[in-house]
Amino acid sequence: MSHANQRRFIIEPGGSLSGDIRVPGDKSVSHRAVMLGSVAEGVTRVRGFLEGDDAMATLAAMRALGVRIDGPEAGALTIHGVGLHGLSAPDEPLDLGNSGTSMRLLTGLLCGQRFATTLIGDQSLMNRPMRRVTEPLGQMGADIVTSDKGTAPLGIQPVTSLMGIDYPLPMASAQVKSAVLLAGLYARGETAVTEPGITRDHTERMLQALGYPVEVDGRRVALTGHGRLTGGSIQVPADISSAAFFLVGAAIGAGEAVTLLDVGLNPTRTGVVEILKRMGADLEVIPKGDGAGEPVGDIRIQAASLEGIEIPPSLVPVAIDEFPALFIAAACARGETLLRGAEELRVKESDRIAVMATGLERLGVQVEALPDGIRIEGGRLAGGHVQAQGDHRVAMAFAMAGLVADGPIVIDGCAEVDTSFPGFAGLARSAGLPIAVEEQAG
Ligand code: S3P
Repeated sequence: MSHANQRRFIIEPGGSLSGDIRVPGDKSVSHRAVMLGSVAEGVTRVRGFLEGDDAMATLAAMRALGVRIDGPEAGALTIHGVGLHGLSAPDEPLDLGNSGTSMRLLTGLLCGQRFATTLIGDQSLMNRPMRRVTEPLGQMGADIVTSDKGTAPLGIQPVTSLMGIDYPLPMASAQVKSAVLLAGLYARGETAVTEPGITRDHTERMLQALGYPVEVDGRRVALTGHGRLTGGSIQVPADISSAAFFLVGAAIGAGEAVTLLDVGLNPTRTGVVEILKRMGADLEVIPKGDGAGEPVGDIRIQAASLEGIEIPPSLVPVAIDEFPALFIAAACARGETLLRGAEELRVKESDRIAVMATGLERLGVQVEALPDGIRIEGGRLAGGHVQAQGDHRVAMAFAMAGLVADGPIVIDGCAEVDTSFPGFAGLARSAGLPIAVEEQAG
């Protein structure tokens, strides 16, 4: 899970993307499928599960908590749910690798159990802010100890009971919202969260798909504790956050049309489509229906000349994971792109504003890093040597820059791509990106 090996991507100039591309399953939906299937009653069958390190960390954690899970086999899982009160104490700390979603959501799920748990992760995860979840959970009566800095290891102790709260989220975070709602399953009375901006609602949708009543009223989501989840079938759509790299690659490149197949089109995730359209991308969304409450469709896109834009603040939380890719689109657009109100990017798997700004400068792009965003002046990209700093999305974003750069791009720190997109380099190569991978023992 934590990557002792170093991985380098080398992208030669002159590539172009084309054809149909199916990216792996959605990471957010995969995490929730395993967690909620585990505490449902009866069997849950999952298809399209993401076999990446992050979702596999959640799967290993649920197994360590006593749940029998068969698979994954070609994305298929059979989860033998134990019900809300059927989890058992793990033998050792749960190691969640690089996965913030695993740690924050599991903190919510585990703080109402009758046993203690300790949560740990890799160096990046052990430095990410956790008070954003431990504070509201503490208000519910949970007993969770963090480090002095408010980071993991998280020591969760059992408590006699949790009480519901009505919590105004201080930041637009689906992980915090989900942690509070998952704790709410074990709390007395109603637990409600009101969010300041729209964030992904996969937890709410999946709870409802598995028969748990959830009330949604504008930006307020509420549920009442001690109900029941019933096992069911979950089809995980392809991850729009992974598709985003190919959308940007196709938009900036010189290739033919590219179609991303069976992509999750949950409206809380489609900010990348809206932003690319506003930049002038030639893009069409073809809806195909619904699977376990999640809309799915194809996205067809071809090269177009892009214009820099001011990104509307309302689109920031619905495109939050796609900004590394969108910064590459901005670097290839005519004129200036300005992003503000995105300070959350500084506490992702890396400080994505700083790491992207440094890398773009290395490629000859004019950028100004702002405390809560970035200003990018579009132009030509040169080849160069950049650092992904162990951030999967930064690595894949710079890989796509190789489609338009004047010379080769060398990217170090790419091993964590496996957390969200195992097989990225192979799929990108077959779609037309001249990418080579070098593995070095670390
Ligand atoms: C996620 C929520 C987002 C996102 C992350 C996955 C989720 O994080 O960036 O990749 O699955 O709930 P925040 O809640 O920190 O915004």
